[in-house]
Amino acid sequence: MPAYPADRILPVRHQGEVLGALSVSKRPGESLTPTEGRLLADLAAQVGLVLKNVGLREQLLARLEEIRASRQRLVAAQDEERRRIERNIHDGAQQHLVALAIKLSLTESMIGTDTDGERELLAELRRDAAGAVEDLRDLARGIYPPLLASGGLVTALAAQAKKAPVPTSVTADGVGRYPQDVEAAVYFCVLEALQNVAKYACASSAQVQLAASGHDLVFEVSDDGAGFDPGSEAYGTGLQGMADRLQAHGGSLDVRSSPGAGTTILGRLPCRVLEAAG
Ligand SMILES: Nc1ncnc2c1ncn2[C@@H]1O[C@H](COP(=O)(O)OP(=O)(O)OP(=O)(O)O)[C@@H](O)[C@H]1O
Ligand SMILES: [Mg+2]
Repeated sequence: MPAYPADRILPVRHQGEVLGALSVSKRPGESLTPTEGRLLADLAAQVGLVLKNVGLREQLLARLEEIRASRQRLVAAQDEERRRIERNIHDGAQQHLVALAIKLSLTESMIGTDTDGERELLAELRRDAAGAVEDLRDLARGIYPPLLASGGLVTALAAQAKKAPVPTSVTADGVGRYPQDVEAAVYFCVLEALQNVAKYACASSAQVQLAASGHDLVFEVSDDGAGFDPGSEAYGTGLQGMADRLQAHGGSLDVRSSPGAGTTILGRLPCRVLEAAG
């Protein structure tokens, strides 16, 4: 208890936890009567619950504020993603299809008049059509990767790891199939972590580890690169997006790094298993 000039100081507790104190001072020359002492003890016993409730209410409000902010970021990220898809469709597949339509009319007008020109245009049309298909395929991959849908997390991440500029291994322990949104959350978190490795770490290697642990799916992306100070470096869209995604599933993100000592990104999310590991 703090040293405080008072005739009596009573700790205020709730279930053994000290939450504050009541201090009473009487006029000089007067002292507390036994009845007053008992009253004070009763009061201290009741104030404990009140203080506990005030504390809980504050915690609840802080948590609500956190959830509100995280929801706003998720909505903003969704809007941004929609704009990205719109842009991609507009600049990619739409351009290809518009060009195709124009060239088709040209070819039609040439029929029977210019055989060489016709053949050239037809070859161009075939190339443009293939380009449009490729664009749409890339776009679909960005929305929900087909390999993730068909093969699951380990297969899809192993394929991505092969393409990573830093040698990356993928190991898994007891990882089966999970609901689509859970697999997507882990997949995109790991991809973002690998992108950060490529952008900032100057690492010689990276490891992705996936494991089923009780009712949780856990993943770890670590590198032996430059590291950074997570305490002073603010989260960018990447790490914040990972944290929000995992939090939306009732999970959590842990970033462990220090300058010169590499980086480990740990994610955990509770989920039900659709199919046990084969
Ligand atoms: N593996 C890593 N090695 C070294 N530094 C890292 C690593 N991962 C993250 N960082 C540091 O943490 C910062 C925040 O990362 P985050 O992914 O949130 O944002 P960003 O990559 O800068 O931007 P964005 O992801 O929006 O393109 C990075 O700018 C970088 O300084
Ligand atoms: Mg990033």
